[in-house]
Amino acid sequence: MAFVPQFSLYFLILLLMPFFTFAQTPSNKTLGSSLTASNDNSGSSWVSPSGEFAFGFRQIGDQGFLLAIWFDKIPEKTIVWSANRNELVQRGSKSELTADGPLVLRDATGRQIWSVGPGDGVVYGAMLDTGNFVLAGSDSVNLWESFDMPTDTMLPTQTMSQGSRLVARFSDSNYSSGRFMFELQSDGNLLLYTTTYPKEDANAAYWSTQSSIPDGFQVIFNQSGYMYLIAKNGSILNPVFSNTASTQNFYQRAIVDSDGVFRHYIYPKSSNSSDGNWPMAWSTLSFIPSDICVRIAGDKGSGACGFNSYCSLVDDRKKCQCPPGYTFFDPEDVMKGCKQNFVPQSCDKTSEEMHLFEFRDMINTDWPNFHYESYKSVSEDWCRQVCLSDCFCSAAFFKNGECWKKQVPLGNGRNGPSVGGKALIKIRKDNSTGSAGSGSNKEQNSTLVTILSALLGSSIFVNILLLLGTFIFFYCWNRTKQGTVQPVTAMPSMNLQSFTYKELEHITEGFKEELGSGAFGTVYIGVLAFDNNEFVAIKRLDKATSDGEQEFRSEVNSIGRTNHKNLVRLLGFCNEGQNRLLVYEYMSNGSLANFLFGNSRPNWESRIQSAFGTARGLFYLHEECNNQIIHCDIKPQNILLDDCLTARISDFGLAKLLKADQTQTTTAIRGTKGYVAPEWFKNLPITVKVDVYSFGVLLLELVSCRKNFEANAKEEQMILSDYAYDCLRDGNLDLLVENDEEAMNDMKRVKKFVRIAIWCIQEDPSLRPTMKKVTQMMEGAVEVSAPPDPTSFISSIV
Ligand SMILES: *[C@@H]1O[C@H](CO)[C@@H](O)[C@H](O)[C@H]1NC(C)=O
Ligand SMILES: *[C@@H]1O[C@H](CO)[C@@H](O)[C@H](O)[C@H]1NC(C)=O
Ligand SMILES: *[C@@H]1O[C@H](CO)[C@@H](O)[C@H](O)[C@H]1NC(C)=O
Ligand SMILES: *[C@@H]1O[C@H](CO)[C@@H](O)[C@H](O)[C@H]1NC(C)=O
Ligand SMILES: *[C@@H]1O[C@H](CO)[C@@H](O)[C@H](O)[C@H]1NC(C)=O
Ligand SMILES: *[C@@H]1O[C@H](CO)[C@@H](O)[C@H](O)[C@H]1NC(C)=O
Repeated sequence: MAFVPQFSLYFLILLLMPFFTFAQTPSNKTLGSSLTASNDNSGSSWVSPSGEFAFGFRQIGDQGFLLAIWFDKIPEKTIVWSANRNELVQRGSKSELTADGPLVLRDATGRQIWSVGPGDGVVYGAMLDTGNFVLAGSDSVNLWESFDMPTDTMLPTQTMSQGSRLVARFSDSNYSSGRFMFELQSDGNLLLYTTTYPKEDANAAYWSTQSSIPDGFQVIFNQSGYMYLIAKNGSILNPVFSNTASTQNFYQRAIVDSDGVFRHYIYPKSSNSSDGNWPMAWSTLSFIPSDICVRIAGDKGSGACGFNSYCSLVDDRKKCQCPPGYTFFDPEDVMKGCKQNFVPQSCDKTSEEMHLFEFRDMINTDWPNFHYESYKSVSEDWCRQVCLSDCFCSAAFFKNGECWKKQVPLGNGRNGPSVGGKALIKIRKDNSTGSAGSGSNKEQNSTLVTILSALLGSSIFVNILLLLGTFIFFYCWNRTKQGTVQPVTAMPSMNLQSFTYKELEHITEGFKEELGSGAFGTVYIGVLAFDNNEFVAIKRLDKATSDGEQEFRSEVNSIGRTNHKNLVRLLGFCNEGQNRLLVYEYMSNGSLANFLFGNSRPNWESRIQSAFGTARGLFYLHEECNNQIIHCDIKPQNILLDDCLTARISDFGLAKLLKADQTQTTTAIRGTKGYVAPEWFKNLPITVKVDVYSFGVLLLELVSCRKNFEANAKEEQMILSDYAYDCLRDGNLDLLVENDEEAMNDMKRVKKFVRIAIWCIQEDPSLRPTMKKVTQMMEGAVEVSAPPDPTSFISSIV
């Protein structure tokens, strides 16, 4: 009985459906709707109700069309999903929501290229405002979603379940499947790995959540722009991206880029929003892994770059290069690797040809694991000779008395300060002539060969080698005892290089050139790799306590684990008894103090950028790195500027290293007068809020471009923080930025920043915002209310 009415209702709906379609908004596409690929892109897309996303055909160069989803309101029309990435279609191709349900893509000849969706039950398709294209049933239940079939991108509100993956595109302009993958495996492990291109099997992982028992259930990119891995019970296991910008003000996406790096990008929705400090373009908010070049390990595959090439990080971007004597097969696709420009050594005439080859040295460069033989306790010269007299040997790597012989094709090449050692690349001296032994000096050459082979055969030579070897063996053994850290492993903390005091003495030419000195010691300049002009700053800790070997190592490791673009990176350390030194990146543009209080006033925008950079760096130290770090000495002298004038915090982690127990109250005041929070004087607990206080003072200095204390100023203006509050209260903020035209034209931001600063310097630590809140206020994600008088707390407590 029940069957009949139900059946007739169904029948009625079917009958009425064509009429329903007229009642629906343009976003709901009924069965039978279709799109056609045409050159002018007109009428070939379905737009979401907000207009932010569109589904349809996009032309890719002159290669053909992708059936895709893209950000439709921005000029770039950035593609976030596609159906036919590995098979572009031509003009006249059609995508149809067929009458019996499935969404189908047919090329111009009518051949079916792609199809999704259940056979029946689909009532309409819709492009949603989240960027999800769905096929829905009569009760609005989604029967198919593009979110469930991601290509290389995730959008806020999208989740990834076990077994799903993002596959990088081939290159920035070629959308077909590439060589890198982000996958939540069905066993619950979350990984980034290289694939066995052109297949999609896992090759070498270069990032993972690294839990002993993987139990990841879903990757969630939530509505607020956080990405994290959750367990089945919903508890958060690992954050993936936790830098955030408001999703209200920014378009956001996370993509495994064609270079293998997983990046979280943002794009301001409007240029006049209060987030004007971001350019109207995609900017990277954060990315993993921090250094793809050194992360990829293993002895298979070409690594982050192609075979025979090497990878280095330039401005957070991967760069692939060929060693001397090699050039790219295909400069358009560097992942194809490098080829030798010369005829390799002949194995029939190895010794005759020895003199035709020489080595080019490459400091801090290696193709780890790609060796076929290795020797301990040898000298560099021995290493060169042994490779030169071996026709299989294409290159050698020498480090700390060890020598590794390597053979092309070399995979996994990387260059960077954490690599250490030296690669010796064997190349033919005269690469223009292919044939061996040609030329007029053949006779001379064979004489040389005779001498060499005689030498190699003689016992004196062997004895010398043995002696040298013994010496180096003891030297290295001694070093190992002091705890040399293996530079290349998957653990971030192990990225630090351990230096001997002797090495640092050499690098700094006997601690010749002083860069400055601070609370913790003196800083010297050094040169790591003479070839690349790689400067480093070496800080010699003078107050280091002699005890706590273990503690020193663990603190240094914790500093070494930090990785943020607004922090000065620690590259290595030396720990030999009383000699404790830290090796940092060298910052070419000095400190914010010089920049700010130098001869000419830096422009408003760059001051704003410094404020943002410092705030983000502090936010990271307080909330985002593994072990919370309280800086305790935030001031313009400790904010350094790199080549691009990006503000980078230095000296973090040292307060703890030098034995200040941060969580306890303490009588020994750290920090610098004028920037220290009142709780230092009051026996109150020291928390991250002391840094917020110092940041507030710094922010005022950045806005007004003057020092916190100026003895020559009028009495009421002497202390900047008091003066700024008076100006804010009395509505005279223009006095604070007098003579600064750029700032005067931006009083809205001046006011916002002063308000934020006054919140930060509240005497009552609990009234101060967290650095997270500060960055949100600065970015405009959170309103800034009028702050109270910062000193109102004193009267109540003293
Ligand atoms: C599309 O249709 C469904 C069901 O008929 C309805 O709930 C939904 O509001 C429609 N969407 C739009 C944007 O009109
Ligand atoms: C993208 O790269 C692949 C692999 O090299 C190639 O087969 C394909 O033709 C390229 N596609 C385009 C549109 O250039
Ligand atoms: C997103 O995740 C973050 C971190 O877990 C959380 O603070 C925030 O409330 C979440 N947002 C939404 C909309 O669920
Ligand atoms: C949820 O699961 C994780 C790992 O599976 C476990 O560590 C955690 O204790 C669980 N939490 C709750 C509230 O059950
Ligand atoms: C931004 O500018 C657009 C026009 O360019 C205007 O419609 C909108 O109201 C402005 N928004 C704000 C927040 O000023
Ligand atoms: C080797 O070849 C390169 C490019 O072909 C050339 O610039 C270089 O001078 C050559 N080297 C020698 C030693 O001939």
